[in-house]
Amino acid sequence: MFDRNGYDDSRYNLENIAEIAKTSPTVAALVEKEYNRQKNNVELIASENYCSEAVLAACGSCLSWKYAEGYPAKPVDRHSGNKGRYYGGTRYVDELEEYCCDKWREVFNTDYHVNVQPHSGSQANFAAYNAVLEPGDTILSLNLDNGGHLTHGSSVNFSGKFFDVHFYNVDDNGFIDMEDLEKKAKELQPKLILTGASAYSRIIDFEKFAEIAKSVDALFMVDMAHIAGLVAGGVHPSPFGYADIITTTTHKTLRGPRGGMIFCREELAKKIDSAVFPFAQGGPLEHIIAGKAVCAEEALRPEFKEYAAQVVKNCAAFADEMLKLGYTIVTGGTDNHVFLIDLSDKAFSGKDLQNACDEVGITLNKNCVPNEKRSPMQTSGVRVGTAPMTTRGFVEEDFIEVAHRIDEVVKKLDAEKAAEAK
Ligand SMILES: Cc1ncc(COP(=O)(O)O)c(C=O)c1O
Repeated sequence: MFDRNGYDDSRYNLENIAEIAKTSPTVAALVEKEYNRQKNNVELIASENYCSEAVLAACGSCLSWKYAEGYPAKPVDRHSGNKGRYYGGTRYVDELEEYCCDKWREVFNTDYHVNVQPHSGSQANFAAYNAVLEPGDTILSLNLDNGGHLTHGSSVNFSGKFFDVHFYNVDDNGFIDMEDLEKKAKELQPKLILTGASAYSRIIDFEKFAEIAKSVDALFMVDMAHIAGLVAGGVHPSPFGYADIITTTTHKTLRGPRGGMIFCREELAKKIDSAVFPFAQGGPLEHIIAGKAVCAEEALRPEFKEYAAQVVKNCAAFADEMLKLGYTIVTGGTDNHVFLIDLSDKAFSGKDLQNACDEVGITLNKNCVPNEKRSPMQTSGVRVGTAPMTTRGFVEEDFIEVAHRIDEVVKKLDAEKAAEAK
């Protein structure tokens, strides 16, 4: 489709499909179809990425079979009864898990405590809240319609069911409204102030958030799942030093295995660890922890900084071109890897555009926009991100071409709606 496709076959070992086919031709055929879909499509889902062959191999390793409930024993105890774990034979996974934690501290240049066991971003948030809050405690977080995540207090999620969650919003231009945050923080005296987003395209001022949290004696938590790779690559300010707790996924801009992590100030370490295990989870996925360690080593390489910088440059070029083509972009642009195209004034929804793009091999997702008028199943926006295609080698000119392809799809939908209206 594009001159520069960049889907690196070596990232995915095709022999795996042949191996699966020996037992299940059905599963093998579906994996192969998905492989071809990925390879042939332009992937603009802001929360996706492609991990390296090394990460995949670590995730597919024999560590998958090891049970290791608990935490690594201190090296001095390691050979005498696996003190930190509930199972024997954990000597090497102990070493691995500690190595993984050390590498992530190195990536974010921090001395925070880190727990690398959460199975996902949602699990990380579940454990983080439960480490420091009681059911019914008040959380102040960014509204889902304004870019927040389900686990930040949606009524259909555990966060909204177990805690008393209130929301701050974005202002009329789509930027986080710090005055609204400050006012609500004073009124509500929340126990926890949370920031981080799934669909917010601007730099988040962690210093100001921390100041407001401190002024009302609230804990300050950052969910950096989306921007973690940009923080690691030095192209987004870091929340370390400001936040008491930082959660993340490892599979978005960090382009590691699917999973989560929690960082916290040392004084919260015990609470965080026991909220992950035994409160929220059982045995850690040591194969995924191996993948997380490999991912950390990749994030420490100079190439990762180049990738992160290119993600941001690509996103700016993409958003600029959409603006030139006459589209409304929430906040008028982007500082990171993502932006929202606002289709409020169109006769078709975000879902319509998502489906029409799918037909021409462009994968993106419908998304609510601030002051959304349509239902979350329809939406008035689409979200686009540049991380996956940057991993595949796309540069600014490719994203300019993508902008024109999306514009063609929009024009076709405009024409269809106009014909229907006649
Ligand atoms: C900000 C944020 N936090 C948490 C999550 C949840 O991650 P997971 O899908 O791994 O549970 C996401 C996922 O999209 C996210 O965007």
